[in-house]
Amino acid sequence: MDVLRAFADKIADGQTKVGIIGLGYVGLPTAIGFHDAGFEVWGVDVSQRTVDLVLAGKNPTGDPDVDDIVPGPGTERWNITTSTPEAVPHCDVVLVTVPTPITHDLKPDLSYVEAAGRAVFESIKKGSNTIVVLESTVYPGVTAQTWMPIIEELGLVIGEDLEIAYCPERFNPGDAAHGVRSVARVIGCTNPDVGNALVELYSRLTSEDVRYVGKLEVAEAAKVIENVQRDINIALVNELARIFPALDVDVEDVLSAAATKWNFHRYTPGVGVGGHCIPVDPYYMIQRAADVGVPAGLITAARAVNRSMPNHVAQVLIDILWKAGLSAENTKVLFLGWSYKAEVGDPRETPAEPLAEALQNRGIQVGVFDPHLSEESLPDSVEFIGDISEAKGFNLAVLVTAHKVCVELDWSALASNMNTAILYDGRRVLDLEAIGAQGWEVYAVGRPL
Ligand SMILES: NC(=O)c1ccc[n+]([C@@H]2O[C@H](COP(=O)([O-])OP(=O)(O)OC[C@H]3O[C@@H](n4cnc5c(N)ncnc54)[C@H](O)[C@@H]3O)[C@@H](O)[C@H]2O)c1
Repeated sequence: MDVLRAFADKIADGQTKVGIIGLGYVGLPTAIGFHDAGFEVWGVDVSQRTVDLVLAGKNPTGDPDVDDIVPGPGTERWNITTSTPEAVPHCDVVLVTVPTPITHDLKPDLSYVEAAGRAVFESIKKGSNTIVVLESTVYPGVTAQTWMPIIEELGLVIGEDLEIAYCPERFNPGDAAHGVRSVARVIGCTNPDVGNALVELYSRLTSEDVRYVGKLEVAEAAKVIENVQRDINIALVNELARIFPALDVDVEDVLSAAATKWNFHRYTPGVGVGGHCIPVDPYYMIQRAADVGVPAGLITAARAVNRSMPNHVAQVLIDILWKAGLSAENTKVLFLGWSYKAEVGDPRETPAEPLAEALQNRGIQVGVFDPHLSEESLPDSVEFIGDISEAKGFNLAVLVTAHKVCVELDWSALASNMNTAILYDGRRVLDLEAIGAQGWEVYAVGRPL
């Protein structure tokens, strides 16, 4: 308890030393946030490239909001290293922000959480009561199930050598209004005193609500269901976007009409969902439900709908080409955007990839214009278009990602460079009437052909 009181005093004085393990999309802005809040920060990443870039004051992630805020070389209270054993002994609290992907057979891959946890626990000073907080997205039970066996194996004692807690990250890369310093946080911990001490710490990071919500599993479950709910809501509009065109009705007209009711939540259909969270986290929940023998039919069905969207859209694009008298051979499709979301250079789990594969399997060539991404981050099988004025000879343009630069293109210039000026809005953000007036034949997801 004395250690916790000392911890609380240190937070109040800004003397707490904060370690962050994993300096990616989540960890780096978190490290910068705690540094800006006045704390001494120890940031660790296993990637030498990431550490070199951060030490040079550069942004290794594709989140443009981080571009100009990485502290420069020699900044006080800012320590970056590849070595967990070097960093951890300096820290009062260590936040773990490593990836939690899924395996090829759609099972949770907890190897990063395990490896990072082990490296941290092996580096903890006996008797230091270092607080180790997992921030990665997991299913309920992971923090204790993955870390407690390691803690016991190493002979460490909870309450003397360390404490463990869970505080999910909820910020939204590429969305400055929901950055690490402006999202509400929930903290789960077996020991309420530790939970409340962490409330004090995180309250220095964010201006929004910070709450101790009880045991670890409550906070773990809260995070995963936030993304499950989004996946289900998006799946519903994506399914509607397949049903209504078959009834000769535009899904957007239906959604706009329904949204006039006070309790209708409007979502927008698209070519598919991507990124590290929404297409991944539901599998964590599905796995946990299966472990305890409870069916998760709704979550599973929503995943299946969203996962099948790229293939569905590929078939629609082939129908559009066929309607225009074009066969798949010698046909070129131009993707406007490749990232999984607008304004971010992040290709992880992007629906653009299965969409491109489905077209290529039919013999169609794919070119990609995405100024947020480098050529190296795209598969070799697609043609990289660095400058949109060089996109020539395409038959069909598809808005895959609603990057501002793609939405606000010079449509008339692009039309004149196309072999056939056919456009498909895969995000329902374009003014199709205005673009149609510039010589384009226009189509969109959820709109009758
Ligand atoms: N990206 C998002 O929008 C977002 C939002 C909320 C939550 N999350 C969750 O946060 C977690 C991290 O996601 P991310 O997008 O930051 O991942 P990321 O891949 O961008 O970053 C993870 C970093 O951890 C490093 N790393 C891996 N193992 C390590 C180890 N043992 N020690 C030190 N560094 C290690 C990697 O090199 C990488 O730089 C995931 O669980 C994700 O689901 C992500």
